[in-house]
Amino acid sequence: MKSLILDSSTRLLVLTGAGVSAESGVPTFRGMGGLWENRPVEEVASPQGFTEDPVRVWRFYSQRREGAAGVHPNPGHTALAEWERHLGDRFLLATQNVDGLHQRAGSQRVVEMHGNLFKTRCSNCERPPMDDTTVYPEGTVPRCGACGGSLRPHIVWFGENLDEADLGRIGEFLTRGDGKLVFLAAGTSGAVWPAAGLVDQVRKLGGETWLVNFDPPENAERFRHFVQGRSGELLPRLATLA
Ligand code: APR
Repeated sequence: MKSLILDSSTRLLVLTGAGVSAESGVPTFRGMGGLWENRPVEEVASPQGFTEDPVRVWRFYSQRREGAAGVHPNPGHTALAEWERHLGDRFLLATQNVDGLHQRAGSQRVVEMHGNLFKTRCSNCERPPMDDTTVYPEGTVPRCGACGGSLRPHIVWFGENLDEADLGRIGEFLTRGDGKLVFLAAGTSGAVWPAAGLVDQVRKLGGETWLVNFDPPENAERFRHFVQGRSGELLPRLATLA
């Protein structure tokens, strides 16, 4: 198998998607047909879906909280945390996942591009997001203690913009200029932007690009190296820490 050399000149950005949590038992989006209660996930995980039926949206996220709380990081998560310990501030992990498994595996330099399943914020006022593992009972829409507005999951829904500070942190890391830029995407279909465009930014900067994925992506030619298989098996063996 090819080896990813992580040495004192490497600056590594990793992008993960649902496939990295699949071996922990967390279902992927496109793998499960993208339906929930026979509705497209896009309809539930969207501002329109929340306005239309907040009870249904909270049922969806409460079920995902219940499911995610019972799973554990897999060797793929653990390998990424080890790479971070080896590279220090020359490592950054941008994840599309909201399950918190990277942090539970020890990753600290993490940008949660799509939010976090275990955070809740007010849909009406500017109160900062709060940690919240509550699995709300059926029919409940929690209310904000400050303004009485409906609370919502702190998740970036379809049609919403990502946090500018998150995008800025990733952009600053990419253009920092020190060392040799390397990008590795793992467990992502590359279906959702702007995460899917990171590989193009890296190529424009002359960086090296890797994809570790179960299925070949439509856009395989955008990656210099493609290692096919399960991230939980491949990531622990892929890197040479020099
Ligand atoms: N190891 C590696 N790759 C895997 C594994 C595995 N064990 N299992 C599945 N995969 C791959 C699949 O081949 C697929 O290409 O992971 C990818 C998962 O793709 P998606 O389900 O589309 O997940 P993701 O790319 O994270 O979706 C992006 O879409 O629904 C929105 O906001 C949501 O963050 C999500 C975004």
